[in-house]
Order: sequence, then structure tokens, then C-alpha cells
Amino acid sequence: MRLPETTSFSDNQENAGPVPTGPAFSVETVLRAESICKTFDGHRVLRNVSLTVERGELVSIIGPSGCGKSTFLRCLNFLEIPDTGAVTIADDSIRRDGGPWRSSDEAQAHQLRAHVGMVFQSFNLFPHRTVLDNVMLAPQVVKHVAASVIEAEARDLLAKVGLEAAALRYPATLSGGQQQRAAIARALAMRPDVMLYDEPTSALDPRVAEEVLEVMRALDREGMTQIVVTHDMRFARAASDRIVFMEAGEIVEIGDPDEIYVNAHDPRTREFLGASL
Ligand SMILES: Nc1ncnc2c1ncn2[C@@H]1O[C@H](COP(=O)(O)OP(=O)(O)O)[C@@H](O)[C@H]1O
Ligand SMILES: [Mg+2]
Repeated sequence: MRLPETTSFSDNQENAGPVPTGPAFSVETVLRAESICKTFDGHRVLRNVSLTVERGELVSIIGPSGCGKSTFLRCLNFLEIPDTGAVTIADDSIRRDGGPWRSSDEAQAHQLRAHVGMVFQSFNLFPHRTVLDNVMLAPQVVKHVAASVIEAEARDLLAKVGLEAAALRYPATLSGGQQQRAAIARALAMRPDVMLYDEPTSALDPRVAEEVLEVMRALDREGMTQIVVTHDMRFARAASDRIVFMEAGEIVEIGDPDEIYVNAHDPRTREFLGASL
């Protein structure tokens, strides 16, 4: 859900409509990636990838397999270290100039990651911990919040993703969709500014995938900022504020869903969508 432009309390009384009663939202950049470049073994995987995301947006990244979607997402929270370029999330920023990655850089990355919740295709829950423990762990370890303080919030998050009854179960006893919803609750427990999802429903059958997508839609309605790498074209079109089409390590085109699906400017986008629909 894209937030409206800064609410203008018009001083032109003649044209003033009804007095706005809601909060005065303003557009605010949450994440900015600038000219991210990444090479693996001499192979250029990302070429000057830049993206700016506003608070409350849901941005889908689509594109053929191997085009660099996951690498880009991972560069946003320095699970992969970009060679050059800059990432700013909330008030933390890291700029790379091609030099070595130092331990001081790792400390900065640690700070930047605190703004980000990441959800993977394969859930990655801790198998020997209950769902509730999975959700409570990061705030305890990373933010040193006492278990007694975090438990109520963790249970609220489980309720939000429809898993309040599964709090004391172990991940292996849950369906894939439930595990993924637990993974979302776990990421939310860090109160991130932005959620990143790498093909969150690719391992799920369509009915179960829908439960996960519904959680993402609900978060969108609450104003969470989300970036989703997805092959689910129906979801991308229906739920996104903007769609990013990548190919061969570059962003080819960014647009709102109708623009991309109905009226893509670039022939590569049209060809990809023609083959995917
Ligand atoms: N850790 C890595 N080491 C070497 N090559 C990698 C690594 N991760 C990704 N690649 C390569 O980078 C390219 C982009 O991969 P990826 O970002 O996973 O694409 P996508 O998510 O769009 O399918 C692929 O050619 C892939 O083989
Ligand atoms: Mg991928």
C-alpha cells in the first residue's frame, strides 16, 4: 500500500475538501540502493542496480531465473557484500568502493540488518526450538530483550499470522505454509523497517501459498514496507505498488503493475511476461 503524498491541508479555503481526519502521512524513503555491482568469480551478476522504496510500499521483483534477483535482495542486507554501490535503510548507510570488507564494515552491516526482516523460500526456522522460541530468539540475542518482556509481543505476532495455537509446536510438525508464516512472525519480532522475501511461496502448494500471501497483504494494509522476489505473477500484479523487472543483472524497467503488465515499455519485459502468463 503506497502512502499518499504528504497530506496537504490546503490553505485555499474555496477548494478545501473535507478536513482530513486520519494521520498526516508523508512519503518517506525507507530503503535506497544505489548502483549496486556484484561479481562472482569474474562473472558480473549485478550491474548498477538502483532502487528506492518508500515507507508502506510493496515492491515485487520479477525476472528470469539466474538474473540476479536473490543476489540483489541479499546485497540489501549484506548477506552478500556488494563490490561497489551503496545501501541506505532507515538512518543507516553503507557505501562500498571495491575495497576489502573489514570487521568495522561488518559492525555497520550488523546495524543495518537490524532494520531488515528476511524471509527465505526454505523457511530456515530453528528445528529444535518451538515456534514461540523461534519468534522470541532474535530480540533476546540481538537486542537483549528479556524473555518475559518479549513473550506477549511474540504471541501477538503469532496471532497476527494465524498461529496462536501452534506456539509450542516444533517446526517439523507444521505445514510448509505454517512454517513460512512462523518465519514471517520471527522476522517481524525485530520490528523491521522493511521486510525482504525471496520467493516465499515457491516451496508451497497454491492453497497453502495463499495463506502466506494473505499475511503479506495484511502487513501491507498495516503499512509495512515489503520487497518480494516472486514468480507469482498474479500476486505481483494484484498486490504490488510497483514491479521491478530484472534481466541479466540489471533493472530493465520499474513501473506500477498495470504499466508493466499492460503497457511495458521494454520489449524484454513484454517477452518475459508473455512467456510467464
Ligand atoms: N554465491 C555464489 N557464488 C557464485 N555464483 C553465484 C552465487 N550466488 C549466485 N550466483 C550466480 O549469480 C547469478 C544470479 O543468481 P541469483 O541472484 O540467485 O539469481 P535469481 O535469484 O534471479 O535466480 C547466477 O548466475 C548464479 O549462478
Ligand atoms: Mg533467486
